[in-house]
Amino acid sequence: MANTILVGAQWGDEGKGKIIDFLTERADIVVRSQGGNNAGHTVIVDGVKYVLHLIPSGILRRSKKCVIGNGVVLDPVAVAKEIHGLREKKVKVTRDNLLISDCAHIVLPYHRSLDEQRELSKGKNKIGTTKRGIGPAYGDKIARVGLRMSDLLQPELFRTKLAQRIKENNATLKAFGVKPLNAKKVEAEYLAAAEELRPFVTNTVVFLHKAVAEKREILFEGAQGTFLDIDHGTYPYVTSSNTTAGGACTGSGVPPHRIDKVLGVVKAYTTRVGEGPFPTENQDLSDMLHGMGREFGSTTGRARRCGWFDAVSTRYAGMLNGIDELAITNLDGLDSLPVIKICTHYQLGRKKLEVPPGDLDLLKKCTPVYIEMPGWQQPTHEAKTFNDLPKNARVYLKKLAELTGAKLTIASVGPNREQTILL
Ligand code: IMP
Repeated sequence: MANTILVGAQWGDEGKGKIIDFLTERADIVVRSQGGNNAGHTVIVDGVKYVLHLIPSGILRRSKKCVIGNGVVLDPVAVAKEIHGLREKKVKVTRDNLLISDCAHIVLPYHRSLDEQRELSKGKNKIGTTKRGIGPAYGDKIARVGLRMSDLLQPELFRTKLAQRIKENNATLKAFGVKPLNAKKVEAEYLAAAEELRPFVTNTVVFLHKAVAEKREILFEGAQGTFLDIDHGTYPYVTSSNTTAGGACTGSGVPPHRIDKVLGVVKAYTTRVGEGPFPTENQDLSDMLHGMGREFGSTTGRARRCGWFDAVSTRYAGMLNGIDELAITNLDGLDSLPVIKICTHYQLGRKKLEVPPGDLDLLKKCTPVYIEMPGWQQPTHEAKTFNDLPKNARVYLKKLAELTGAKLTIASVGPNREQTILL
């Protein structure tokens, strides 16, 4: 499989968790390099549902090593809880299969409060964040006032730094009219989590470099999606990390020339959670998918906005990430439709656009231009090979890959491991 970066090529929730789990069979190491517990990867194995927020999905397979890299912002209390939850389901989580970077920044309660307060103060212009404190935590990292895992593991140092940070943040929270945080309470909760996480914390860069030298295969599991990238997404309606392929290198310390391949994951249609422009959004499609019980977020339970496949954005995602191969998920969601639309271009006044404009106001003014494809109107969830799929479904998948400019290698027709077609 070689060293592969897996990225979401839309607005997140592309079904990456399932594809990562499927590919993990061949990888030796699975690395998470950005984001925090704003992500939610759902994996179903032998009928048991696992929702992973921070721990790489590789944890569900024996003899795989999972790494939470330096680029992640990590809520230690939430990670400790996630580890407990996995152990309750009889999943082994030890230092043998999980390592956490000592340079990963930690998410503190004031980050969550600030996230919430900033959203409230924006009113109808809110971003629609997951309220997990992601933006403020990355903000502190960039402002060079963040606390890292290495600080957390030194109780005296942590106490001093935390007291100072809480003092400063309480003043800001007070301005929002929020009750100040009790430093002692936060300290006790975080130091307890620190002791649970201590065995896992190390210099993960050294571990990964050794693995590269030994030619062990690494899978970098992306969280969120291309258009939530802080630099390339639909700013400010984005998350606060680099969700595109480059983020995997900076967030893990593995250099770019050690990467062999980028795999993009897209849904057979498009979804988005939270606010922000979404040119191909379609209410009828949303109603249909929600009516099927699909497209509710695994982290917040929010109903996702749904729309037709947008080849303008996936074409651009292809460029930004250098997508070599494409995995298309949720094909079965479209099984009942007589006609399926694909957006091939945007119309902006008299201009026909091949890639989305960077400016948000211009993007809002774009009208999607569609082609129509005939549906297949029969179930696909039992297909085991590409040829088992109805002809119109095959034509549709090939069209999506052609428009995105990547080679189609995986199609997914349901949430289970077995419902994955390798081309
Ligand atoms: P934040 O990452 O919580 O700050 O949220 C910023 C934006 O990213 C919001 O629109 C969220 O809905 C979106 N977002 C964050 N994480 C995910 C994810 O894992 N899937 C889909 N959308 C996400």
